Amino acid sequence: MGDLDLSFIQDLENRPNVKVIEPEEVPVIDFFTSSHGDTKEIVSEIGNACRKWGFFQVVNHGVPLELSKRMVKMAKEFFDQPIEEKKKVKRDEGNSMGYHDSEHTKNVRDWKEVFDFSLEDPRLVPAMDNLDDQELRTISNRWPQYPTEFRLCDLIDCSLTRKACQEYSREVEKLGYRLLKLVSLSLGLPANRLNGYFIDQTSLCRINHYPPCPNPNLVLGVGRHKDFSALTVLAQDDVGGLEIRRKSDGEWIPVKPIPDAFIVNVWSNDTYESVEHRVVVNTEKERFSIPVLLLPAHHVNIEPLEELLNEQNPAKYQRYNWGKFYASRIRGDYKKRDVENIQI
Ligand code: SIN
Ligand code: FE2
Repeated sequence: MGDLDLSFIQDLENRPNVKVIEPEEVPVIDFFTSSHGDTKEIVSEIGNACRKWGFFQVVNHGVPLELSKRMVKMAKEFFDQPIEEKKKVKRDEGNSMGYHDSEHTKNVRDWKEVFDFSLEDPRLVPAMDNLDDQELRTISNRWPQYPTEFRLCDLIDCSLTRKACQEYSREVEKLGYRLLKLVSLSLGLPANRLNGYFIDQTSLCRINHYPPCPNPNLVLGVGRHKDFSALTVLAQDDVGGLEIRRKSDGEWIPVKPIPDAFIVNVWSNDTYESVEHRVVVNTEKERFSIPVLLLPAHHVNIEPLEELLNEQNPAKYQRYNWGKFYASRIRGDYKKRDVENIQI
């Protein structure tokens, strides 16, 4: 087991499978081919995919490939640096954005490091006066000075890192809103029904780096979880590792990397159920993935949409204030785990 830190070790029931499962693929929706017909075709494909899987992939989505490539190149250069350099932009008590090497999912440490930034300039987000002092944290983006090529650009006050991140996330955000409209239509709602929640959004882009791991059978890159975003649009490289829990039998199904595709994950009061997923790692290859999470404005109260409720489909979730929920997540109420009794 070498020097594996015990905090990374998953409980037995959560460790990656060695079991061979029936291969099945999450649906791939081709915007180009489908939109040749009409929007109705895409809407129906999205509806079916959301009901069956909660996940789908999109190709020919309109996000320029060179923006994604530039992000991965930049991410690689950033994460390749010594830890002291990365920690110069690290997340801390006062700020949740930037670099972080110690994320926990369900109290077990994930085998990854991340860099987070917010899509809106946080200074432009209106005062979060629904939050108390403790909840009101600064969410301000931190941009690294290195690799050197980025620093050169900084001299003329335009960090390339920032530029690459912002250009990329803007394009993915556009795709996200396009998808949100199609999802609304697939639920039988007007196309713009969901968009209002995202004015003054708190949406987030994360860059995940999963280094190779000597013990991939004991750990996870990200432990099983459901996303808390309304919609996630995720780019992954060609290494693979994302697995989603198949609704029909609870088996973990790998999501095959497709060049230049985005993986989309949606939920809505269990009409479209939020689906558990996790990331497995391997001994040889590092992996990068870049999710953009569409998150509402701080003042928004989240509750099931009235139009979708009836006797057969009653509200399954209580109303809650997004800003308060998000602040408590950012605080990361993490309890130290008792690693004494972990079975190896
Ligand atoms: C996540 O769901 O947090 C990450 C997914 C991935 O890296 O593929
Ligand atoms: Fe996730």
